Amino acid sequence: MKTIIEETYEGMSRMAARIVADEIRKKPDMVLGLATGGTPLGMYKELIRIHKQEGLDFSRVITFNLDEYYGLSPDNEQSYHYYMYENFFKHINIKPENIHIPDGTVEDINEFCEEYDREIQRVGGIDLQVLGIGRNGHIGFNEPGDELITETHVTTLTEETRIANARFFGKLENVPEKAVTMGLGTIMKAKKILLLASGREKAGIMSELLSDTNVTTKVPASFLHLHPDTTVIMDRDSAMELLAKKL
Ligand code: PGA
Repeated sequence: MKTIIEETYEGMSRMAARIVADEIRKKPDMVLGLATGGTPLGMYKELIRIHKQEGLDFSRVITFNLDEYYGLSPDNEQSYHYYMYENFFKHINIKPENIHIPDGTVEDINEFCEEYDREIQRVGGIDLQVLGIGRNGHIGFNEPGDELITETHVTTLTEETRIANARFFGKLENVPEKAVTMGLGTIMKAKKILLLASGREKAGIMSELLSDTNVTTKVPASFLHLHPDTTVIMDRDSAMELLAKKL
């Protein structure tokens, strides 16, 4: 894995946005995998700026989001649908029909998951997948466990993840217990991966992830060691423990 450490969150966000923008310029109809959560917000802001000030064109870009809470409808303010439109899509010239986000409200969720993976394949696979990372090493909502699931699926969130995300829901009881997420295989099939980490609360997991190249289902992100083209971009706070180990 290639690792880039930026001094600040803003620096990390600018670097990530630049990499995404370069890929779009190289391939205007690229397939872009997107993440939600606190970490990529700065990247979205910078991509919106590049779109408005430098004319970055999203009109042919196809997007697939990593995950969505199970049971939350797209107009729910806590849903990732809502997040993506508010923080990114409504500010750029992407075509609504090119946007894909898992829907946690459909009746036949298993069929929906299978179709999500088929649709990714139909458009040629994901060219660049942006990822955040959970404090427990999850990517998407692939939580640590005895085994990991390859395809897009419904998963049960760990208590740790629900607590981490309670800040968006007011209180823990409001955080859904399940989510729909791309599987590890879906993520690993992306041609390029960009993992973003920021803040002190990620310092432990980033040190664990990058101190060796072992792979374990207990740290789902460790599978990225097997991926041929993954770049990690961190801010200094999230790299703190890693840097301290190297001194
Ligand atoms: P965060 O979430 O960006 O809000 O820290 C990352 C994740 O849980 O994958």
